Amino acid sequence: MTNFETADFFTDTSLIENPFPYFEYLRSQGPIARLPHRNVLAVTGYAEAIEILNDPQTFSSANAATGPIPDLPFEPEGDDITEQLNAHRDEMIATGLVVAKDGKEHANHRSLMMNLFTPTRLKANEEYMWDLTSTLLDKFVDQGHCDLIADYATPFATLVIADLLGIPENDRITFCEKLGPPPGAVGGEVDYMDSQVLGMSFLFEYFGQYLAERRETPKGDILSQFAQAKFPDGSTPSVDDLVWISAFLFGAGQDTTARLLGASLRVFCENPELQIRVRNDRSLIPAFIDEVVRYEGPVKCASRLAVKTTTVAGVNIKAGTTIALLYGACNRDPREFEAPTEIRLNRPNARKHLGFGRGVHTCAGMPLAKAEVTASLNRILDRMMDIKLSEKHHGKPGDQHFSYEPIYTLRALKNLYLEFTPVR
Ligand code: HEM
Repeated sequence: MTNFETADFFTDTSLIENPFPYFEYLRSQGPIARLPHRNVLAVTGYAEAIEILNDPQTFSSANAATGPIPDLPFEPEGDDITEQLNAHRDEMIATGLVVAKDGKEHANHRSLMMNLFTPTRLKANEEYMWDLTSTLLDKFVDQGHCDLIADYATPFATLVIADLLGIPENDRITFCEKLGPPPGAVGGEVDYMDSQVLGMSFLFEYFGQYLAERRETPKGDILSQFAQAKFPDGSTPSVDDLVWISAFLFGAGQDTTARLLGASLRVFCENPELQIRVRNDRSLIPAFIDEVVRYEGPVKCASRLAVKTTTVAGVNIKAGTTIALLYGACNRDPREFEAPTEIRLNRPNARKHLGFGRGVHTCAGMPLAKAEVTASLNRILDRMMDIKLSEKHHGKPGDQHFSYEPIYTLRALKNLYLEFTPVR
């Protein structure tokens, strides 16, 4: 039994399978609670999280993806560490990511990235994803069982972003191999962090070469246009800037979407009456997706760094403190969501959850993620009847277990073994 008082949220693997009792313990300490390690304040309060997210001048995103590990490369001094942070930003990990940028640089990178999401491009991509659902389902539906994560969700999410970015068809299979277990493989055997590092190095190498070539010799494809793009202020991004953006689109959009699909199917299996309701009335799918993101969203924790000493909800926050925004807990804040542990498709505030963040860093891929999950759930319900959890893998009802990737940022099912009646 984990001792919640002394637990280290960032490394304690006993909090991985079910973090929610720990989140409720933290909530009992107040909406913003000091953690015993690493100079961190954890936010479980919905209103408090929004206050922080809406104040990027005080709360930098420099550590959004990494949180308090590793330590800051400097010793914070005084009540305003903005200049110290700027002087050491390049020594911090992953500050090239758009999600970790602040101010004008963030606005520049975000705007460049949004150019990739034009209405025409998104429409073509959506047509591709509907075809892809069927192609992937055809590979295993007749068997009557699958690991949804490895057989469907991971290749699906990878290929959708590859299509959005116009990755040539010939290279797409390599993307699937490098960025996740290929269809049919047993998921989760490779160490998660190792696979992430390998995946990122592949993306950096691939985009580094491809974008440098397309900058020299544009070929009229999507990445050529991207390679020629300018920042809104007219300046030219470096090839490195473009590589960070392209690689991050996979990092941000592939795993999250795949795991949301996993969470959705887990919820269907645990609530068979809900599965029948949504199967019979597909117009409920958008509300269902938002409710799954609220109840079991893929992003468990994002971080901020207080760069100025301030106060939120009566809690003093000293410059240099890491703020762990526990989105998974804020979305179950009973002050905001009535009966937060129930899946309700008719919540009046259903779309106000923080599962896609809030403020200047709100998820740029939210419409894409929702389109992907909508297409997938529709086709899965068309092709798979009476979907159940495999007792062989997850145990009998009342004593079921699930493996989640051992990381504190994501709520990521390693695998989800399903049994169902195929529909021909
Ligand atoms: C279910 C799927 C997804 C979830 C739950 C999700 C969640 C989030 C969250 C919570 C943030 C904010 C992080 C913060 O507050 O620091 C974020 C940012 C972001 N997401 Fe998503 N995301 C999903 C899918 C996608 C997809 C498909 C893409 C693109 C292909 C994408 C691209 C981004 C980008 C670029 C940012 C950074 C935006 C910025 O910093 O301005 N996401 N996402």
